[in-house]
Amino acid sequence: MTTASRVQEHHGEEKLLRYRVGQRIVHAVLATSFLMLLFTGLMILWQPLTLWARDGTSGLIHRIGAILFISVPILYLIVDRRGAKELLVESFTYDKDDIEWFKHAGRYFLGHAVGMPPQGRLNAGQKLHHAGVVITSATVVMSGIFMWYAKGNLGANGLALAATIHDLSMLALTVLLAGHLYFTFVYKALSSMTTGYVSKEDAEIEHPKWVEEIEHQQATGD
Ligand code: HEM
Repeated sequence: MTTASRVQEHHGEEKLLRYRVGQRIVHAVLATSFLMLLFTGLMILWQPLTLWARDGTSGLIHRIGAILFISVPILYLIVDRRGAKELLVESFTYDKDDIEWFKHAGRYFLGHAVGMPPQGRLNAGQKLHHAGVVITSATVVMSGIFMWYAKGNLGANGLALAATIHDLSMLALTVLLAGHLYFTFVYKALSSMTTGYVSKEDAEIEHPKWVEEIEHQQATGD
């Protein structure tokens, strides 16, 4: 990807490319499959909704959602290996500015990004969210596979343990999603996953180290 296509001008406003098309498609598959799993999971589990689960359709949709959800990391590696690697490495790497950012996270929560410690491509909160998604997705998938394929061999205690891990992981992912949606709308970040671009002015406030990096690459022609 050349730096020229990473910077765009639209009606006099400079825009920066945040997510390439492959990354946006992967995110759409992740979001859709997660919502399929959440709603059909609730239908299987929660008494008032179990009536809808009677004919087995929700179980079938749950399994289709599971296959899509499991395919996300493989799809990411196929369509955008660099993006997948950046997501993994950056989500688990925290520097001094990130620690400082956490100390002031309350202001950020209330919608004040100006004056926050300088952040790179991902802010510390996004790193924590993405790391949480990676870890809890792994536990939800592993416990789900156990229940799908090894139900007969798990025994009552094993099955109860797998179901508990599965449900708690899904609960954690749902709490993470609530925060994720809150920040997406408070900071008007949706365009990064629809058009791929964000305003440079906003990025300079929220991700100044990332903007510097892009400008440096532009200057050196990387
Ligand atoms: C359902 C509606 C959803 C919306 C509107 C949404 C919105 C967004 C937006 C705007 C970003 C980019 C933020 C930025 O860096 O500026 C993003 C990234 C991300 N979201 Fe979501 N999201 C949704 C669902 C989910 C779900 C269900 C998950 C996880 C189970 C998730 C996990 C992620 C991850 C891991 C990234 C980073 C992507 C990457 O680096 O490739 N999102 N989301």
